[in-house]
Amino acid sequence: TKVQSLKNHQESPDIILSELPKERGWLSDQHVHQYNGFWYPTGILQGLIALQQHHYKPQPNDVLLASYPKSGTTWLKALLFAITNRTQYNFNTHPLLSSNPHELVPQLEAYAFKHPTNPTPNTSLMHSHLAFNSLPESKCKIVYVFRDPKDVLASCWHFVQKLRSKELPSISLPEAFDQFTKGCSPFGPFWDHVMGYYKASLEFPKTVLFLKYEDLKKNPIFNAKRLAEFLGQPFSLEEESEGIVDRITELCSFEKLSNLEVNKDGTHTGFFIPTIANNTFFRQGKVGDSKNHLSGEMIEVLDEITKQKLGSDLITT
Ligand code: A3P
Repeated sequence: TKVQSLKNHQESPDIILSELPKERGWLSDQHVHQYNGFWYPTGILQGLIALQQHHYKPQPNDVLLASYPKSGTTWLKALLFAITNRTQYNFNTHPLLSSNPHELVPQLEAYAFKHPTNPTPNTSLMHSHLAFNSLPESKCKIVYVFRDPKDVLASCWHFVQKLRSKELPSISLPEAFDQFTKGCSPFGPFWDHVMGYYKASLEFPKTVLFLKYEDLKKNPIFNAKRLAEFLGQPFSLEEESEGIVDRITELCSFEKLSNLEVNKDGTHTGFFIPTIANNTFFRQGKVGDSKNHLSGEMIEVLDEITKQKLGSDLITT
């Protein structure tokens, strides 16, 4: 297609963007553009183009966290950071006590947007909201976090209420629902995003791990061990008996992180937004809160799409 053929050329991002279908974005006056089947905000696409033009490839030892927005990225960033760096830090002076997880684990395509001439972040742990089919090919380990789309939509909508510029017309929940179910929400269609990673996890179980937010909530310790094993860094018996797994899951829990000074009152520099309040990333941290916000009809529609598109394997309720 035109899009795929453009991708391999050194065209300017503006020319590439102008060729793509677009829709209203959610956070700012940036649009979302349809590229390779997904709706990406302008800056994200510019970052992706920079990565492609530099033929960027993660290293085999890198770890990439992938997620649809509001699916538990902040939590997984914290967990992966704490697990992969566990020999370097103690729990009294741990970086997670003084930095928001988003400062410790950069978002690949957002970093590339900010540094288009040298788009490679210098960390081996990073994150992406890109769909699986837009990721650079690589042998690195990928951890995907899935969350019930009802909670994702409710969480997204609250996030947008907080961050969307007050100068722009607000987006009502029914409007957000409409765009989300049609598939043209940022990084959507949600269900295709999930399916891309789910299929990859079945096809390449050694390199792609598919986790559910709801499972993590139910059993964080079991899932932290699973993560460490998947990354080739299993907890030793000694570590387990010292309580390291418990301490990591406690440190990364919603209760702990959201009550830290840095996450209550601190801010960090965003790639797209100059200053973001860290508390924007912590709201309820619960399973099923969407039922307090979505109408019965919205819930039915979302469950029906999920059943049709993802099948019973991924139904979480
Ligand atoms: P809610 O809005 O439902 O509370 P992301 O990190 O992908 O942006 O997702 C944000 C969602 O994850 C928010 O959901 C937020 O409260 C929740 N969250 C943040 N940190 C968490 C943690 N440590 N444990 C569980 N949920 C967390």
